[in-house]
Amino acid sequence: MKLWQPLFATALSVALCGQLHADTKTLKLGHPQAPTSAFHAGAVEFAEQVGKLTNGRYKVEVFPSGSLGGEREMVESVQLGTLDFVVTSTGPVGNFVPDTLITDIPFLFRDYDHARKTLDGPIGQEILTKFPAKGLVGLAWGENGFRNLTNNKKAVNVPEDMKGLKLRTMENPVHMTAFRTLGAQPTPMAFTELFGALQQGTVDGQENPIPVIVSSKFGQVQKHLTLTGHVYSPALIITSVPLFNSLSAADKKVVQDAARLGAAKMRAKVNEIESSGLDALRKEGVSIVSTIDKAKFQSALEPAYAEYAKRFGADKIERIRQVK
Ligand code: PAF
Repeated sequence: MKLWQPLFATALSVALCGQLHADTKTLKLGHPQAPTSAFHAGAVEFAEQVGKLTNGRYKVEVFPSGSLGGEREMVESVQLGTLDFVVTSTGPVGNFVPDTLITDIPFLFRDYDHARKTLDGPIGQEILTKFPAKGLVGLAWGENGFRNLTNNKKAVNVPEDMKGLKLRTMENPVHMTAFRTLGAQPTPMAFTELFGALQQGTVDGQENPIPVIVSSKFGQVQKHLTLTGHVYSPALIITSVPLFNSLSAADKKVVQDAARLGAAKMRAKVNEIESSGLDALRKEGVSIVSTIDKAKFQSALEPAYAEYAKRFGADKIERIRQVK
């Protein structure tokens, strides 16, 4: 059991709304991360806004820490109608809506500004139009952050250092291709299993954004961190087509507005933990490689880029690179 994981599945926070109606409808939102995470900040903001903007006609209960399942399972539950909302990284979403996979290409986005502009602009909005065909509604792009590598074996400075490392990855074919190309052994695993797997040495390392590494207390079970920033990891607030279509036009707008505010809160929390998180990890004894030669990693990834170009179209990838 993870140190931060609640002992039982319980809603940590409930939408705070002025008054509750006799016929208040309660909806459930699940997410995989700790209550101190950026995902949780975004989820709570979404819940509060839905409560406030509907004057308590709707109440959203937030279930953190994967207490309702891993990301893939929760997306499935939303699709099946047994869960109302999920905040998830794009990691497993490509298995449902393949158009999202392009966002998972390594070193695609220059920085946070580039990623956020792309997802909030025409490209991100075009991807969201693909969700309803899969029974899902992508309400807003939130954020997990730029992913960095941790492990227990050695300091990773150059791509060759990754050879043979057994790394937990998300259940995401784009990421797995990249790590295989770099000579690591990608081991897909649900995030809910990860702390235990690192603790027991089932895997040598993992990769996640600083806010996740800090809020999940991976500093307790990992010795080395390299600020690879190898993949930008977007997040999404997702609901189902039947639930969304059951809402009045005004309530649809409320849910969309609340999702955008939740996503903005998530990004603000990512900014905050990005700047304070490294000191916290150093204090836990993690040794940090702060700079890498990105060009070396990109050149080692050439065979993977050739595969991505075939799969997604070089023009589509270039269109993202060109967003200013
Ligand atoms: O590593 C993952 O699976 C994802 O980054 C996470 C932490 C579940 C996103 O919420």
